[in-house]
Amino acid sequence: MQDYFRLENVTVQFGALVAVDAVSMAIRSGERRAIIGPNGAGKTTLFNAMTGVVRPTQGRVLFDGNDISRAPVHKRSAMGISRTFQITNLFPRLSVAENVLLAMLGHTPRKFALATLPTLNPDEAERGAAALEMTGLGNRRHSVVTELSYGEQRQLELAMALATQPRILLLDEPAAGLSPRERVIVSDIIRALPRDLTLILIEHDMDIVMNLVDYITVLNNGKLLVEASPEKIKNNTDVQDVYLGRGGQDA
Ligand SMILES: Nc1ncnc2c1ncn2[C@@H]1O[C@H](COP(=O)(O)OP(=O)(O)OP(=O)(O)O)[C@@H](O)[C@H]1O
Ligand SMILES: [Mg+2]
Repeated sequence: MQDYFRLENVTVQFGALVAVDAVSMAIRSGERRAIIGPNGAGKTTLFNAMTGVVRPTQGRVLFDGNDISRAPVHKRSAMGISRTFQITNLFPRLSVAENVLLAMLGHTPRKFALATLPTLNPDEAERGAAALEMTGLGNRRHSVVTELSYGEQRQLELAMALATQPRILLLDEPAAGLSPRERVIVSDIIRALPRDLTLILIEHDMDIVMNLVDYITVLNNGKLLVEASPEKIKNNTDVQDVYLGRGGQDA
């Protein structure tokens, strides 16, 4: 089977800092993959290179056989690459349904100056409603974002990403800052997503990771340390060393 999403020797440098260092990885269609590693390992930067927020200094990003290394965010998003952010990224004064609508229209809070909200055609309305159902917010659609709990806000971010009908969904720490109870809710939502949706997940909570993914990529100091099944990663001494701060440099 053809690799679906592929990184070839991707390096991202910020001045002298090499945030992502010659990382190659291949993700198959329908796969559920986690990217883990200590703070500053380069996980979010890798997502940014995948989604077009940053361009690789070197190397290539391929999606479905196409070289998208230089394609801007909106183009990748139109191809079906969608993501959530590590920090919540919502329109706080709008309703849940309005946030989903704006996501479908390709707006982000930073870019969007609110004038008038367009109305939905029936297709879009259905897609938005389905995304809210999938994320457990079906009965919250008229609530304003500021009325939601933090956990519900993270659910809304997931709904917004899903409403764009992605083929591949990248989730940057979807459970960050959540209570244990909220973590369970969010991980149940992710587990129940359609199986044909390719998922790449950055997450520090190993219980969540172990329960959700088929395969794990470990980054450390921008470099790919190891890739293996969740079971093998759990017992890998290099990975344990990295998490315990004992170095664990690549071989
Ligand atoms: N836009 C930027 N400009 C300069 N340095 C950056 C930029 N983005 C990230 N970095 C640096 O690149 C390195 C990797 O950061 P990144 O955010 O990718 O790590 P991470 O693995 O996502 O960490 P965390 O688990 O804390 O979210 C860090 O040293 C960070 O300070
Ligand atoms: Mg990060």
